[in-house]
Amino acid sequence: MVTKIIIMLPKSIQLLHVFVVVVVLSLLLLNYIPVLGLSSGGVEAANKIRCIEREKQALLKFKEAANILSSWGNEEDKQDCCKWRGVHCNNHGGHVTMLDLHDWYLSGKISPSLLELQHLKYLDLSGNSFEGRILELIASLSRLQVLNLHSNYFGGPIPHQIGNLSNLRYLDLSFNHLEGPIPHQLGNLSNLRYLDLSFNFYLEGPIPDAFGNMISLVHLNLSFNQLEGGIPKSFVNLSRLQSLEMSFNNLTDELSEILHQLSRSENSLQTLNLAGNQLSGTLPDFTRFSSLRELDLSYNQLNGPIRESFGPLPSLVHLDLSGNQITSNSFQGIISDAHLSNLYSLQYLDLSFNQLVLNFSSDWDPPFQLRQISLAFCKLGPYFPKWLRKQNKISNLDISGAGISDTVPSWFWDLSPELNFLNLSCNQINGLLPDLSSKFTDAIGIDLSSNRFTCQIPPLPSNLTFLNLSKNMFSGSISFLCAISSTAAFSHLDLSSNLLSGRLPNCWEHLKALAFINLDNNNFSGALPSSIGSLNAIEALQLRNNSFSGRLPNSLNKCVQLKIIDLAQNRFTGKIQAWIGIRLTRLIVLSLRSNKFYGSIPQDICYLNYIQVLDLSQNDLSGKLPQCFSNFSALVQSNSPKGTTIFKYTVYEGVTNVSDFLYYESNALVQWKGQEREYGKQLGLLKMIDLSSNKLTGKIPQQVASLTELVSLNLSRNNLAGRIIQEIGQMKMLETLDLSANRLSGEIPTSLADLTFLDVLNLSNNNLSGKIPSSTQLQSFDASAYSENPKLCGRPLPSKCPGEETIVEPPISTKGIQEDEDRFITSGFYVSMGIGFTLGFWGVFGTMLCNSPFRYAYFKFLDRIQNWFYVTAVLNMARLQRNL
Ligand SMILES: *[C@@H]1O[C@H](CO)[C@@H](O)[C@H](O)[C@H]1NC(C)=O
Ligand SMILES: *[C@@H]1O[C@H](CO)[C@@H](O)[C@H](O)[C@H]1NC(C)=O
Ligand SMILES: *[C@@H]1O[C@H](CO)[C@@H](O)[C@H](O)[C@H]1NC(C)=O
Ligand SMILES: *[C@@H]1O[C@H](CO)[C@@H](O)[C@H](O)[C@H]1NC(C)=O
Ligand SMILES: *[C@@H]1O[C@H](CO)[C@@H](O)[C@H](O)[C@H]1NC(C)=O
Ligand SMILES: *[C@@H]1O[C@H](CO)[C@@H](O)[C@H](O)[C@H]1NC(C)=O
Ligand SMILES: *[C@@H]1O[C@H](CO)[C@@H](O)[C@H](O)[C@H]1NC(C)=O
Ligand SMILES: *[C@@H]1O[C@H](CO)[C@@H](O)[C@H](O)[C@H]1NC(C)=O
Ligand SMILES: *[C@@H]1O[C@H](CO)[C@@H](O)[C@H](O)[C@H]1NC(C)=O
Repeated sequence: MVTKIIIMLPKSIQLLHVFVVVVVLSLLLLNYIPVLGLSSGGVEAANKIRCIEREKQALLKFKEAANILSSWGNEEDKQDCCKWRGVHCNNHGGHVTMLDLHDWYLSGKISPSLLELQHLKYLDLSGNSFEGRILELIASLSRLQVLNLHSNYFGGPIPHQIGNLSNLRYLDLSFNHLEGPIPHQLGNLSNLRYLDLSFNFYLEGPIPDAFGNMISLVHLNLSFNQLEGGIPKSFVNLSRLQSLEMSFNNLTDELSEILHQLSRSENSLQTLNLAGNQLSGTLPDFTRFSSLRELDLSYNQLNGPIRESFGPLPSLVHLDLSGNQITSNSFQGIISDAHLSNLYSLQYLDLSFNQLVLNFSSDWDPPFQLRQISLAFCKLGPYFPKWLRKQNKISNLDISGAGISDTVPSWFWDLSPELNFLNLSCNQINGLLPDLSSKFTDAIGIDLSSNRFTCQIPPLPSNLTFLNLSKNMFSGSISFLCAISSTAAFSHLDLSSNLLSGRLPNCWEHLKALAFINLDNNNFSGALPSSIGSLNAIEALQLRNNSFSGRLPNSLNKCVQLKIIDLAQNRFTGKIQAWIGIRLTRLIVLSLRSNKFYGSIPQDICYLNYIQVLDLSQNDLSGKLPQCFSNFSALVQSNSPKGTTIFKYTVYEGVTNVSDFLYYESNALVQWKGQEREYGKQLGLLKMIDLSSNKLTGKIPQQVASLTELVSLNLSRNNLAGRIIQEIGQMKMLETLDLSANRLSGEIPTSLADLTFLDVLNLSNNNLSGKIPSSTQLQSFDASAYSENPKLCGRPLPSKCPGEETIVEPPISTKGIQEDEDRFITSGFYVSMGIGFTLGFWGVFGTMLCNSPFRYAYFKFLDRIQNWFYVTAVLNMARLQRNL
C-alpha cells in the first residue's frame, strides 16, 4: 500500500496562486513596517560602520549555504553588512533587525548561523527554494515579530518551538511541504495577528484547541491541508478574527456546528471560506454574521431545504454555494427573489451545480449589480432570464446547462460592454448570432458550444481570447477569422462539429497567439493554406473528419510547439515528410489515419521521442517499418507513478494563465480494442501504434519489443512477413495486439503468454504454424483470434495438433476475456499517466462535457483535484498490482 505520497508542487502552480498572495502580503508587510519601527532609522548614519562583526560572519555563513547573494561579501567596499541588500540594522547597537530576502532565488538549507542574529525582528525568506526542516532553534530568535517562509520547500513537521516566539505577530508558512499535526504550542502566540499554514497539503489532524488562545488573531488561513473535524469551541475567544480560510481540508462537521463556534465570537468575521470540505447539514441562518463580505461554502455536502432568506447580509459581496451535489444529497430547491433580496452589496454569485431552480418573478429588479454570475446547471429556462436585463456591470457570465431553449434576446448583446467571459453552452439556444464585432470593449472569451445556433458565423469581437462554437449548426465559411486582430491574446478556437464548409482563409498570420485549433467534424475542403505555418504558438491542430485535400504545406514545419496533430479522415495526400520527425519533436499525438498518404514511413519519424499515439493507419504507405522504434522514449521508458516523478510532466508546462489549459480540449479518434471510438481526453493516457491497413512489407523489427510501455499495437492488414518477434513477451503493458491479415509465418512465440494484460488478440489470416502455446490466457481467446492460419493447431482452434489425442479442458479463466469495451482503468491507463499527464488529466475530467461539476471544480481548485487524482491513481495502481 502507498502510505505517504509527497507531491512536488510545481513552481508554476504556485505562481498562479501566489501572484495574488504576494501582492497582498507585500501590502500587509508594508503596513507592518512602521508598526514594528523597523526600517526608517538606519539610513542616516552614513559613513560609520555599524555592522557587528559576529553578525556579519553569521550572514556570510548564511550566504555560503544559500549561494547567490552577490551583493554580500567580505571585500573592502562591502565592510558594512548593514548596507547589504535585504539587511537592516538598528540605529543604536547596529544589530541586524531585519532580513528581507523574498524572491531572491535562494536555495539550499538555512545555515544555523542565522541564529546569531539575536536582534532579528523581521525575517522574510519567502519565494525562495530553501529546503530541509525549519530549524527548531528558530525559537531562540525571541525578538522575532514577523516570520515569513511562504513558498519554499521546507518539509517535515512544524517545530513546536515556534510557539515560544511570544512576540510573533505575523507567521506565514504557506506553500511548503510541511506535514503532520499542527503543534498546539502555536496557541501560545497570543500576539499573532496573521497565521497562514495553507497549501502544505499534508498538515493533518484536528485544529488545536489552543488556537483559541491566539486572542489577537485577525487572519487565519489553513486551506489546502488535511485537517479534520470541526472548529474548536475555544474559537469563541477569537473576537478579532476577520478572515477564516479553511478550504479544501477534511472537515466533517455539520455546518451549523461550525457556525455555532464562530458566531459566539464578536461578529467581526468578514471572510469565511470553507469550500471543499465534507461539511453536511442545511444552510443555516447567517443573520449573526452581519459583517460578512465573502462566504464560500462550495464543494461540500450541504443539502436542502433552502430557507427563506440567507439573512440580511448587507455587506456580502461574494457568495459561493456551488458544487454541493457531489454526493447524492443536494440542495434541491427553489431560489426566489426573496432569497436574494437582502443582499445589497452582492457582486459575485455562484450557485452552479446544485440543481437549484431559479424562479424569479418576471419584473424582478434585483437590489444588486453583479459582476460575476455563475449559475451553471441551475434551472433558469426554458425562457432566457429576463432579470439579467438590469445587470449592466457583468464581466463574467456563466449560464451554461441552464435548460434555456429560447433565442437570445437582442438586448442581451448590449447588456454589458465590459463582459469578458460568456458561457451559454449546453443549452438549446437557437436562432442566429448578430454581428458582435463592436459590442464589447474588453477582451472576451465566448463559449456557445452545444446549442442550436444556425447559419453563418457573423463578425465577432476582434479582441477574442477564446472562442468555442462547437456542437452547433453553424454553416458556411469562416472568413470572420480574418477580422480578428493580431494583438488579441486569442489562443483557443473550437469550431468542431458544425456544418462549416469551404476552404480555410489564408490569414492565419493574424492569429499568432492561437495554441489550440479544433475544426473536427465539419466539411472544410481544399488544401491547408500556407499561412497556417505562421502559427508559431500552436500546440494542437485538429482537423479530423473533413474533406481537406492536397499536400501538407511545408510551412507547417515552423510550428515546432505542436504536440497534437490529428488530420484523420480527410483526403490529404503526399509523402510523410521528414520534417515531421526532425522539426516537430514535441509531438505526443500524430494521427494521419484514413487519408491518402503514400510512400514509405521516413526513418526521421524516430526523432519523436515524446510520441504516445502514432496512427498512420488506412493510408497507402509502403516499404518497411522503420528500424528505430526504441527511440520512442515515451513508449519505451517506464514512467510509472512513483513518488514525485509525475509532476515533472505537468499540466502547467509552458502555461502562463489559467485559461490556457482551461479551454484546451483535445480528442482524437482512435481504434481501441477493435472499435473506432472517440476517446476524448483519455487519449493521452493511451500509448498506441496503429499502422494497419497500409501496404507495409518486410519483417516486424525486433526493436518493437522494446516498446515496453505500449498498450496497443495494430499492424494488421499489411504485407508483413517473417516471424512474430520472439521477445514480444517483453511488451508487458500490451492490452491489444492485432497482427491479422499479414503474411506472418512460423510458430507463435511462447513468450506471448507472458502478456498478462492482453485483452484483445488477433493473429488471424496469416501463415502461422505449429501449436498455439499453452497458457490459460492464450487459450481463453476466441478461436477467431487464430483462424485462417491453415497450419496452426491446438486449442482454442478446433484443429488438433498431430499426436494430440484428447484435449483436456483448461480451467476457465476470466482474465483475457474481453469484458467491457469501455474498460479503461487498466494498468496501461495508469502507467501511461507519466508523460501523458497533460492530456490525461483531461481524460478524467474533460470528457464530461455538459454535466459535470468536476471541470468547474478543477478550474477553481486545480491543485486539490490534481492531488486527489494522483493519489487515487497511485492507490488503484497498487491495488492492480496486488491483484495480479
Ligand atoms: C503554552 O501553552 C500551553 C498550552 O497549550 C501551556 O500549558 C504553556 O504553559 C504555554 N507556555 C507558555 C510559555 O506560555
Ligand atoms: C490565506 O488567507 C489570507 C486571508 O484571507 C489571504 O490573504 C492569503 O492570501 C491566503 N493565503 C494563501 C496562500 O492563499
Ligand atoms: C481526507 O479525505 C480524503 C477523501 O475523503 C481521504 O482519502 C483522506 O484519507 C483523508 N485524509 C485524512 C488525513 O484523513
Ligand atoms: C462552459 O460551461 C460548460 C458547462 O458548465 C463547461 O463544461 C465549459 O467548460 C464552460 N466553458 C468554459 C470556457 O469555461
Ligand atoms: C464526421 O463529420 C460529420 C459532419 O460533417 C458527422 O455527421 C459525422 O458523424 C462525423 N463522423 C465521425 C466518425 O465522427
Ligand atoms: C462536403 O463538401 C464537398 C465539396 O467540397 C461535397 O462534395 C460533399 O458533398 C460535402 N459533404 C457533405 C456531407 O456535405
Ligand atoms: C535514435 O536514437 C539513437 C540513440 O539515442 C540516436 O543516435 C539516433 O540518432 C536516433 N535516431 C533517430 C532517427 O532519431
Ligand atoms: C486494427 O486496424 C484495423 C484496420 O485499420 C481494424 O479493422 C481493426 O479493428 C484494428 N484492430 C483492433 C484490435 O483495434
Ligand atoms: C507459409 O509458410 C511456409 C513455411 O512455414 C512457407 O513455405 C510458405 O511459402 C508460406 N506460404 C505463404 C503463402 O506465404
